[in-house]
Amino acid sequence: MASATRPATETRSISPLIQRSAWKALKTHFDSIREVHLRELFAKDPSRGERMTVDGAGLFLDYSKNRITGDTVKLLLQLAEELGLAARIEAMFRGEKINVTEKRAVLHIALRAPKGSSIVVDGANVVPEVHAVLDKMEAFADRVRSGEWKGHTGKRIRNIINIGIGGSDLGPVMAYEALRHYSDRSLTFRFVSNVDGTDFAEAVQDLDPAETLFIISSKTFTTLETMTNAHSARDWSLAGLGGDEKSVAKHFVAVSTNSSEVAKFGIDTANMFEFWDWVGGRYSMDSAIGLSTMVAVGPENFRAMLDGFHQMDEHFRTAPFERNLPVLIGLLGIWYNNFFGAHTVAVLPYEQYLKRFPAYLQQLTMESNGKHVTLDGAHVDYATGPIYWGEPGTNGQHSFYQLIHQGTNLIPCDFIAFTETLNELGRHHDMLIANVFAQTEALAFGKTAEQVKSEGTPDWLVPHRVFEGNRPSNTILADRLTPQTLGKLVALYEHSVFTQGTIWQINSFDQWGVELGKALAQRIIPELENAVEPALKHDSSTNNLIRRYRQRRQKP
Ligand code: F6P
Repeated sequence: MASATRPATETRSISPLIQRSAWKALKTHFDSIREVHLRELFAKDPSRGERMTVDGAGLFLDYSKNRITGDTVKLLLQLAEELGLAARIEAMFRGEKINVTEKRAVLHIALRAPKGSSIVVDGANVVPEVHAVLDKMEAFADRVRSGEWKGHTGKRIRNIINIGIGGSDLGPVMAYEALRHYSDRSLTFRFVSNVDGTDFAEAVQDLDPAETLFIISSKTFTTLETMTNAHSARDWSLAGLGGDEKSVAKHFVAVSTNSSEVAKFGIDTANMFEFWDWVGGRYSMDSAIGLSTMVAVGPENFRAMLDGFHQMDEHFRTAPFERNLPVLIGLLGIWYNNFFGAHTVAVLPYEQYLKRFPAYLQQLTMESNGKHVTLDGAHVDYATGPIYWGEPGTNGQHSFYQLIHQGTNLIPCDFIAFTETLNELGRHHDMLIANVFAQTEALAFGKTAEQVKSEGTPDWLVPHRVFEGNRPSNTILADRLTPQTLGKLVALYEHSVFTQGTIWQINSFDQWGVELGKALAQRIIPELENAVEPALKHDSSTNNLIRRYRQRRQKP
């Protein structure tokens, strides 16, 4: 939605981005480099493997296996400069309302600002509020973890279920899985998001309501899925606790910006953990939305995670762009997306605990940068956010890597690995890491027909066994997956999304694209449930599907 004073969309045949001199220079440069093989780049410049690396905030990035030269980096940095990236970063950190369509500041960086710092929104310093909520979360987490917080019947809480969706689910579930090693194993954590009743039914089927606490996490507290699950949770809890409404106060807490809806639901607002409209859902895992994370890993670990986020924030804000991890990763993404025409990015964590990291990144990247108009409402005439996907290594190697190695799509990959494992087990870790390095090497350098022939391969089989190589990748290495490292990793991608959104001149902080489906579902729900056959006014396909569902549905 554009501002009230501007038309919602305006058509411009050529957007300023592709007219910019840095963009044009990149295009010319691309034409000269598009066919150059990584084999040649490494042969001509044998030290690039050491030089094209950056250490930032404790993360190490090797970006040498990208189809770039020093000139490419210079031109990409020039593009960032022309688009005013430095000023945009400052605007975000100053609390300016850069989310123009919702007229909001974008201040996830305030969630991890140290006590005593100051970030002003609408005349008020928000940092003390952030720390007040953190302290409240800490007191609550300690009570649950120590067993002091009792359920309605006096039993201690042993099961914590976070109910939320999107940013109110993906961050908590990803962080819980990522930090499981640090979690209190005497507590059970589950995450319910889908409006499909199976999600809730399976989450509670072996649990005792007397020992189960629900955290209802929703920024708006109006989201269909979350409110439906929250009501089912209340019914389940009440049914198991003799129907006493007073039990709700012991078994339900809320995380929201909307205290009136929380109160309407029946949760005492004393048991509500607040956050603010300047925190986007997909940027909220380090706000009170991370309450389940804090209960799982303890306040100290949660604060260590915040410190990791903050270290990456400072790196992003202060490091020169040529040594700035989020900027470099963001710009390399632009290079493949907009010049090579790569439509997707694979994120491949070689760390089992990061198994939900690609799913988390999907919302972060695609809800942020899946936009078709610029900040001023003009239709873009260049590609914006690519599709992010991935699986933890080595599992992906035995499924989709075939396509990355020998298929016809160019898929830039981010490999993420740790030099230390949290579960030392024989030779497992060396094998795991050998696979990371082997994959990036194979993708970059491939195997020529000559090499294949020299192995005695019959001529007819040679083409099938050739690896063209020239498949680009980044390798991100950290020492060990700690709460602090997780904070750094998430902030790295948050800021690389920001960098890309700045170049594409889009609003990375709204998500109007989810609205239409929500509205249509509200219209269709009664058409499915009405006892009387409704008069349907959809297209013939939708009408027919609704009729078929009504005819065949066997209500229990
Ligand atoms: O999918 C749209 C969206 O608004 C996300 O941006 C958000 O994370 C999710 O729904 C959940 O919203 P809420 O926290 O308000 O329930």
